Amino acid sequence: MPKRGAFIVVEGLDRSGKTTQTSRLYDRLSQSGTPVKLYKFPDRTTATGKMIDSYLRSQSELDDRAIHLLFSANRWEAACSMIKELETGTTIICDRYAFSGIAFSAAKALPPPSSSSLSSPDTNSTNPSKSISTSTLSYEWCRAPDTGLPAPDLVIFLDVSEAVAQARGGYGQERYEKADMQRRVRAVFQRIAIEFPPVDVGRRAQGELEGGLRWINIDAGQDMDKVGADIWNCVEALVGGVGTPLGRLWS
Ligand code: TMP
Repeated sequence: MPKRGAFIVVEGLDRSGKTTQTSRLYDRLSQSGTPVKLYKFPDRTTATGKMIDSYLRSQSELDDRAIHLLFSANRWEAACSMIKELETGTTIICDRYAFSGIAFSAAKALPPPSSSSLSSPDTNSTNPSKSISTSTLSYEWCRAPDTGLPAPDLVIFLDVSEAVAQARGGYGQERYEKADMQRRVRAVFQRIAIEFPPVDVGRRAQGELEGGLRWINIDAGQDMDKVGADIWNCVEALVGGVGTPLGRLWS
């Protein structure tokens, strides 16, 4: 059976350097002759993406569940093409995926991180004027709409401390770019990571990375080239393609 392309997701908080690192990884793979495609979610060019963009820029208001489902729909719109590309040998690099979906939505239902508990009811919605409680934004509820999407072979989480993120120029103007929200998002990302078997950056034999989703944390506070080298160290084993069938999320 010919090998399929590898599916690699890069996740992280705002200011973690995801976009820089995904485009550098894309360039490196293309230059090495690997068929590769770069995706970024949300894809703001589609109909759902335009609604998401308007919400993120605070030009429109939406119920927390409605925006969560739009983010998921935005991925489902791309799923068929992604599957075809992977199965015909193209490697996919993806800047954010369903893990951001869970992290940013479930974070809305968390109390301030100092007293955080992922099962606590919401008291801090990003939109307190809404009449419907956001307590239904549980971790499980947030995970459900992405069930069945193609599962990545590898998730690289670019971990950056609040101090480093702020030193990089502070957060921008978009809805979630606030220190308190980012702290909660980080807590949910940590909750997601514990679902997957840990892999050391140094342990990168292909057999170890194949056959199920792996999650790797990389210190994104390091020099940009060192972060790129750590990423390459993880990805290199998957460059020749993957011999196991493409999985589906949460199954
Ligand atoms: P970006 O800055 O990488 O374009 O991402 C846009 C924002 O959308 C960012 O704050 C993370 C957030 N987000 C979600 O809330 N849910 C999702 O499913 C995704 C992909 C991103």
